Amino acid sequence: MIVTAPSTDQSKNGPRPININTDIPGILKLLELVFGASLDAEGQQMFAGTSNALQSPAILWRLSPAAAKLSLGFVWEEDGRIVGNVTVLTSDTPGRFLVVNVAVHPDYRRRSIARLLMKQVENLVRQRQGNQILLQVVKQNSAAVALYNSLDYTTIGSMTHWTASVTRLRRLELNLESPSPHIRELKRSEWRSAFALERDALHPDLNWPELPKPDMFKSGLWSKMVNFINGRQSETWVVTSNKSQLIGLASLNSEWGSSHQAAVRVHPTWTGRLERPLLAKLIRRLQQQSRRNVQLDHPDDDELMNALLQEANFQPRRTLTHMRLDLD
Ligand SMILES: CC(C)(COP(=O)(O)OP(=O)(O)OC[C@H]1O[C@@H](n2cnc3c(N)ncnc32)[C@H](O)[C@@H]1OP(=O)(O)O)[C@@H](O)C(=O)NCCC(=O)NCCS
Repeated sequence: MIVTAPSTDQSKNGPRPININTDIPGILKLLELVFGASLDAEGQQMFAGTSNALQSPAILWRLSPAAAKLSLGFVWEEDGRIVGNVTVLTSDTPGRFLVVNVAVHPDYRRRSIARLLMKQVENLVRQRQGNQILLQVVKQNSAAVALYNSLDYTTIGSMTHWTASVTRLRRLELNLESPSPHIRELKRSEWRSAFALERDALHPDLNWPELPKPDMFKSGLWSKMVNFINGRQSETWVVTSNKSQLIGLASLNSEWGSSHQAAVRVHPTWTGRLERPLLAKLIRRLQQQSRRNVQLDHPDDDELMNALLQEANFQPRRTLTHMRLDLD
């Protein structure tokens, strides 16, 4: 463990860009203190073994993935200690930046530290010709939501993360009074229509960290081969209207050693009519596959899906609100 002696140089107090050569241990300590109890598995992994890494020479932990993820952003220093942090991540979309790890030491809260760090982020993004800043916040975290609202971030919506063990999934009964829609596999030629449905059904910014890619449903021979070699499997089931328009979609992505990733999308003019049969289809498919966990992210205000997921024995894990600041 590293013990930092407080410096007496008060001129360094305040916000400054992260210095990857010196700040990573202090940032990790702060993040562990602030988020420790609420870290998800990925976060826990990030901190696992950091105390060993922190004893290594700077050049070694500079190379660690955890340090790389923390290298852009700002810290707030007080008497030689890092008491505030904001991390900035770039994204595949030009001009689109993400903010994570907004944290202020409990002894230093309500002194405008977070507000000023977030203002530094805005300046940085402007300097880099960025026009959007995106972030996610736990819906119930009223302090952070108030902070971002006060900085003019707008709410895009909230996504609930659901999980289930495939062995415990319950099949959904179909409504026998109304005819079930015909569900078939997505044809290879329909990848553009499937992407159009994805965009119509879900605000693109509700995806994290990247926007959905136009070729996300494209499955050429080559990608099938690559997927096969990597133990990845991907299937998409669709419903079409009488006019052959894609109006509903259920997808299942599985990778060796990870949870299945499932999604259900329904065109806004067809909501309420396709969710049950599409989710029922996914459950039947999952029960034929390897017995792992399954994860699904879905807008929290979709009450029908919330009820269906509970009926199928999914558990809601957390709800994250997605917020965005547009810079002019
Ligand atoms: C959220 C957090 C970063 C705020 O840091 P902070 O330095 O105390 O915030 P600031 O002093 O800059 O507050 C700026 C504004 O945010 C809002 N705000 C901050 N904390 C608040 C609270 N506890 N309750 C209500 N509003 C709050 C207020 O509008 C405040 O302005 P005001 O003080 O003039 O009323 C801090 O509480 C924290 O580290 N929390 C735990 C980690 C966390 O939740 N991070 C966000 C992850 S998305």
